[in-house]
Amino acid sequence: MEVFTTVKEMKAYVRAVKQRRETICLVPTMGYLHKGHTDLMRMGRGLADHLVISIFVNPTQFGPKEDLAKYPRDFERDSRLAEEVGVECIFYPETLEMYPPGYATYVNVEEITETLCGLSRPTHFRGVTTVVAKLFNIVEPDVSVFGEKDYQQLTVIRKMVKDLDMNVRVVSHPTVREDDGLAMSSRNRYLSPSQRKNALVLIGSLRRARELVRGGEHDAAKIQAMAVDMISSTPECAVDYVEIVDPDTLCPVDRIDGRAVMALAVKVGSTRLIDNAELK
Ligand code: PAJ
Repeated sequence: MEVFTTVKEMKAYVRAVKQRRETICLVPTMGYLHKGHTDLMRMGRGLADHLVISIFVNPTQFGPKEDLAKYPRDFERDSRLAEEVGVECIFYPETLEMYPPGYATYVNVEEITETLCGLSRPTHFRGVTTVVAKLFNIVEPDVSVFGEKDYQQLTVIRKMVKDLDMNVRVVSHPTVREDDGLAMSSRNRYLSPSQRKNALVLIGSLRRARELVRGGEHDAAKIQAMAVDMISSTPECAVDYVEIVDPDTLCPVDRIDGRAVMALAVKVGSTRLIDNAELK
């Protein structure tokens, strides 16, 4: 497995692959890999001739009061895991390689970045789309895999690719969960044992919402109220948002007739967790 830390080295590898008319799959990550990430990589392995991942804790997607400095990092362990799942090459740049002094260009998808997570993290998606656009330009993947756990991120990236006519196929992977249902996340490690237990209210409220819909409830407000209630009455948990939205536009729906996704963000102690599920 190769590790490239400069854009120049990465581009040289890509040029050689393209000359042979072979294809590349890219799985972008911020490292501290868990099974959620490695399952994306396993999926990516089957989608192209070469599997490339990136590990880059992207400063532009963190707000001024967010956890950039304490975001967990362990490159040794990450590279071992990546090699085990058959990654051929890791792009692992330093911040200055991606954002040299004087850097001034940003990609911003409007509207769908202004709801859900965009409300409490107003600059987050601009950072995500900027870095992903840069990674797509550097690695030139034919296909790239993103997790459904970050549902709004996936939708925003699909929109960017469509609007900017990018030559990459975006493939999604279902949310990978712990045995008890908690969505895997690098941030789960911040939870104390009692918070870890209380965090099950995220999947609990999503499951309850699905049951209600299956039982014939179509009123989105009622389902939303149930979930807000369930979360607020759980110790150490505070609702950031609970929304039932159209899966493509992320606009709230009043009645659940066609496809609808319930998306939620919950503060468990000081750790903010997100999860979502398709209700229908
Ligand atoms: P990161 O949080 O490291 O996640 C990398 C990829 O793994 C994303 O596509 C994310 O949706 C996916 N992922 C994480 N946990 C998952 C889980 N439990 N199940 C399924 N997929 C999961 O998301 C980012 O990094 C960054 O925003 C990035 C896209 C790399 C841009 O910086």
